[in-house]
Amino acid sequence: MKQEIKPVHGMWASRWVFILAATGSAVGLGNIWRFPYITGENGGGAFVLLYLLCIAVVGIPIMAAEVMLGRKGGLSPINSMRKVAADSKVTQRWAGIGYLGALSAFLILSFYSAVASWALYYAWEAVRGVFEGITATQSEAHFNDMLANPGLLLGYHTLFMVLTMVVVARGVKGGLEKAVQILMPLLFVLLLVLVGYAATTPGFKEGISFLFAFDFSKLTGKAIIVAVGQAFFTLSLGMGAIMAYGAYMPKTVKDKKTGRSRPVSIMSTVAIIALLDTLVALGAGVAMFPLLFSNGLEVSQGPGMMFVTLPLAFGQMPGGLLFGSLFFVLVVCAAWSSSISLGEPVVAWLVERGLKRPMAALVVGLGAWLLGVGSVLSFNVWKDHTFLVGTFFDNMEFLSTTVMLPLGGLLIAIFAGWVMKETQARKELAMQNFKLYLVWRALVRIFSPVAVIALFVYSIWATFA
Ligand code: PHE
Ligand code: NA
Repeated sequence: MKQEIKPVHGMWASRWVFILAATGSAVGLGNIWRFPYITGENGGGAFVLLYLLCIAVVGIPIMAAEVMLGRKGGLSPINSMRKVAADSKVTQRWAGIGYLGALSAFLILSFYSAVASWALYYAWEAVRGVFEGITATQSEAHFNDMLANPGLLLGYHTLFMVLTMVVVARGVKGGLEKAVQILMPLLFVLLLVLVGYAATTPGFKEGISFLFAFDFSKLTGKAIIVAVGQAFFTLSLGMGAIMAYGAYMPKTVKDKKTGRSRPVSIMSTVAIIALLDTLVALGAGVAMFPLLFSNGLEVSQGPGMMFVTLPLAFGQMPGGLLFGSLFFVLVVCAAWSSSISLGEPVVAWLVERGLKRPMAALVVGLGAWLLGVGSVLSFNVWKDHTFLVGTFFDNMEFLSTTVMLPLGGLLIAIFAGWVMKETQARKELAMQNFKLYLVWRALVRIFSPVAVIALFVYSIWATFA
């Protein structure tokens, strides 16, 4: 057997810590902010169903592939891909997956920070009691006032980027797992509180049926690629975040009973992460849609949805001041643990190129901050400068999430299913159940690539025909 590589970036203490860190990466604004608002824009039920299908048959297998490639390579995505390609004696061009991922990470980080800064501001507003007894009109006005204030947003954008890069600069291991262990369950509980409140409002039934009544006539071509993109975005796939974290995953664990070490299975690990992520997204949807219907708000109001609806709930429910403050703080923390994983692949790569970690984090943070200014200004100064799919922000979001992530995921599936040596993939996955392994293999070889390509082609055709 070959010597186990010791990654330069350190290792997670156990499989459980990997699960925590990857869940920290997955659960974020994608679930609480993005999922509800794009569901509203894309007609509800049928979109949700398609999204869930994509998670199950495209997301989970590709996530397993990413963890497998990362753990096999043990380095940043770019160099992991280099290494695995060399081991399988194929061209180094496959490292291109890593470069594409690094670029996606950079683009996503820039607008992610811009939106996280809204949550940061809202946490402060909640603590100050601004949402007490707020009406729907006031809540909308409050959100619009914030957007109209570029100076304010730039300040919070800067603060959030600094928070992110401080952690990445110190190495993602320390502290992250402990934080996630406390914050994620708490976020879950608060979502349940919100769902409980939503259930008492008059629009509850309407909200639920919007989310879960599968009316396929509402599905447009664009909605289809948006659903695919969201499946990648929410699971942090297609750009190397999960690959980078997979690189720090131990290969073996000590069995508690026998005391012998056995391989850590990737599949079950991945299924847990996907399940948690999906529950948070659905919980956020169930919490928000009833409020839209109860208060006569637009379902397709766009990126402001959570910022307009949730203050209404906190403004009315008993204990709303406490719950609201806590909730927005937790959203910031969830966004924080996700943005850390967006920075890590690029920073890890720069470290392997010889930069000191703090320096690498500074470079990446500054670059993403600068690009993020464009997204901040898209809601005020540059609001009317639209091109391609909309504002600068809209283009960043669309290009990275809806185009680049599925493309990256597609290449990863093809590499793991067709290009890499089969024996290596099988050994690294370490699945106890051989039938399940065959299912995985069929999914990454045939089903996921075909599904991504077909959905892409169909939606382009449906959009332009
Ligand atoms: N998965 C994160 C979320 O849902 C976003 C993310 C995308 C993080 C890609 C890392 C990589 O908020
Ligand atoms: Na997510």
